[in-house]
Amino acid sequence: MTANKDLSHRARAALPGGVSHELRYRAPHPIYITRAQGAEKWDTEGRRYIDFKMGSASQMLGHSHPDVVEALQQAATTAIFSADCHLGEIEWAEWVNRLVPCAERTRFCASGSEATMLAIRLGRAFSGKPGVLRIDGHYHGWHDHALKGAKPGSDQPTSLGVPQAVSDLITVCAANPQSMESALQDPQIGTVIIEASGANYGSVPLATDTLRALHDVARKTGVVLIFDEIITGFRWSPGGRQARDGIVPDLTTLAKVVTGGLPGGAVCGKAEIMELMNNAESRDGLSPPVSHKGTFNASPLIAAGANAAMKYLSTGTLQAQADAMAARLRDGIAALMDQHGITGTVYGESSTCHMYFGTAALDELSPAQIRTVQPTLVNGLRGGLLKRGVDLMSHTSCVTSAAHTPALIDEALGAFDSTFAALVKDGLIAA
Ligand SMILES: Cc1ncc(COP(=O)(O)O)c(C=O)c1O
Repeated sequence: MTANKDLSHRARAALPGGVSHELRYRAPHPIYITRAQGAEKWDTEGRRYIDFKMGSASQMLGHSHPDVVEALQQAATTAIFSADCHLGEIEWAEWVNRLVPCAERTRFCASGSEATMLAIRLGRAFSGKPGVLRIDGHYHGWHDHALKGAKPGSDQPTSLGVPQAVSDLITVCAANPQSMESALQDPQIGTVIIEASGANYGSVPLATDTLRALHDVARKTGVVLIFDEIITGFRWSPGGRQARDGIVPDLTTLAKVVTGGLPGGAVCGKAEIMELMNNAESRDGLSPPVSHKGTFNASPLIAAGANAAMKYLSTGTLQAQADAMAARLRDGIAALMDQHGITGTVYGESSTCHMYFGTAALDELSPAQIRTVQPTLVNGLRGGLLKRGVDLMSHTSCVTSAAHTPALIDEALGAFDSTFAALVKDGLIAA
């Protein structure tokens, strides 16, 4: 058994910041997970956690679902990877095309960020216009074209190293039809991208009427409309938010659940746009009008895991289970906040649960205000829960899966109870 802090020490000499993803950084050190099963995981010190991060919302079936594991084992013995066409990718695309309303064709890629990068390229190619309109605070991955506007209330990219010329092509508007309509007066904008849940997996919610109104404005203007369903796809319903609410874009980006929780992603959408990637449409007799490569796209291993997961994801039963557990968690946390005299709001759609601590109603707050969490609370709440064996998705948010049970939710609520009591006692939270 190695201590978390010892591994962290070793990691800092090998990995920048000791991590492979900036959100995994934690002071004084992260936990190092050795095993995850269902909705639980264990760290290198043998401590058990009830998991509300679930692989950054990718493990909809629960960790290490036996059918996915078996499919992977079988695929690995056949061939790890040959970079050829194979039956599994056809079956996988057929699942997506059957379930996601806008999907007439699907192209697989290696991550969610790659999916939004490709969808934006397709939008620009189809519209013939370089400008892209996005919504304040919505998250679309870490590439250069996704960073301006990712931090709510700021029109600066969230990283150094993004060329100004790239940021100049991105316009940010508020999540309302008037703001979108006015931004679309710019004749250089041919593509609109929207995070289907609302910013940051719905921590800033996007009402169905608003999403419909945004869709209608985009339709009226004739731009290419992309829904980023990397969180909502196969989670809000088997066909994502667009199937649940009957609001259909031109293109959709997918990752996390579409792969059965394995590394990868996809873009799906209307044939007339997707066929820009068809080599038979070549202008030079060789390459397609829109180029898309990627060594590991739709690898047989990932396709096998995804196809095993699709059998479950397609029914809706699993999503209903995860939704019910998130509702139980939201209700339980709200009751505990009430009990401890903590002012705030517990909210979230589908299998998510978000907390806002403060007196204002959510609709009176800007996205930046909703997303600003006091540093003391961040450490107190997330750190306090972690100490008590509960891991959150982020500082004030959780996701559930089909593997969460009422008993696990109630056990986690016990940890919330004692964490809230400690926060109130230490004066870290307004009571
Ligand atoms: C809505 C949304 N879009 C894009 C991405 C980027 O996906 P990836 O982390 O696989 O690059 C994420 C990841 O969390 C996401 O939630």
